[in-house]
Amino acid sequence: MGLYDRYLLPRLLHVSMKNPEVRKQRARIVPAAAGRVLEIGIGSGLNLQHYGSNVTSVDGIDPSPALLGMAGDAAVQASFPVTLHHGSAEALPFAQGAFDTVLSTWTMCSIPDIGRALTEIRRVLKPGGALIFIEHGRAPAPAVARWQARLDPLWGRCAGGCHLNRDIAGLVEAADFRFRRLDEGYLVKGPKFLTWHFDGEAVLS
Ligand SMILES: C[S@@+](CC[C@H](N)C(=O)[O-])C[C@H]1O[C@@H](n2cnc3c(N)ncnc32)[C@H](O)[C@@H]1O
Repeated sequence: MGLYDRYLLPRLLHVSMKNPEVRKQRARIVPAAAGRVLEIGIGSGLNLQHYGSNVTSVDGIDPSPALLGMAGDAAVQASFPVTLHHGSAEALPFAQGAFDTVLSTWTMCSIPDIGRALTEIRRVLKPGGALIFIEHGRAPAPAVARWQARLDPLWGRCAGGCHLNRDIAGLVEAADFRFRRLDEGYLVKGPKFLTWHFDGEAVLS
C-alpha cells in the first residue's frame, strides 16, 4: 500500500464523510440499530455519536489502521462498550449469530468481494437480526449509469477501491436477505454519479 492510501486517503475520507449532508443521513439511520451491533467499515467512527440507548455494545471492523486510530478517539465519548478490530468484512472474526444488528454506511462500495462479505454478515447475524445500511451505487437513469461505468476505474484508484456502480439492493437480495424497508433516490446533494443511494433494513429470509 502506498503513502497516499496509507496516510492521505484516511484523512480525506474522514473530512469528506463529515459533510453535513452525510451527517443528516447518519442521524436518521443509525438510531435504528439495537442490541449487540457490528459496524462494518467503521472508518473514523463518525456513526458512534448517533447510536441510541438501545445499543448494548458496538464492534467495529475496518482494514485501515489510520481510520481505526481515529475511531478509537471517537469511541472515548461513547456511553456503551466499543471494540475495534483490524480486518475485512470478507472474513469476520466473530461467531455465528453473534449480533442483533450489522450496520454498513458507505462501505459496501469499497469491499472487494461484496458477495463474500454479505455471506459473512448473514452468518454473524442472529435469527431475526437486521442489516441496516445506507450506500451509494448504480443510478437507474441510463445516462448517469454510463458515466458511473466510465468513471469507475479512475474513481476506484483515487477513493480506496470505491465502486460507483454497484447495485446494492440487488446484491443484498442475491445474498438471501429480505427487505423490511428499502428507499432509493438522490438522498444527498452532490454530483449525480455519486449520490444515488440505497437506504434500507434487511433481514434473513
Ligand atoms: C467511505 S468510507 C466510510 C466509512 C464509514 N462507514 C462512514 O460512514 O464514515 C469506506 C470504508 O470502508 C472501509 N473498507 C474498505 N474495504 C473494506 C473491507 N474489506 N471490509 C470492511 N471495511 C472496508 C474503508 O477502510 C473505509 O473505512
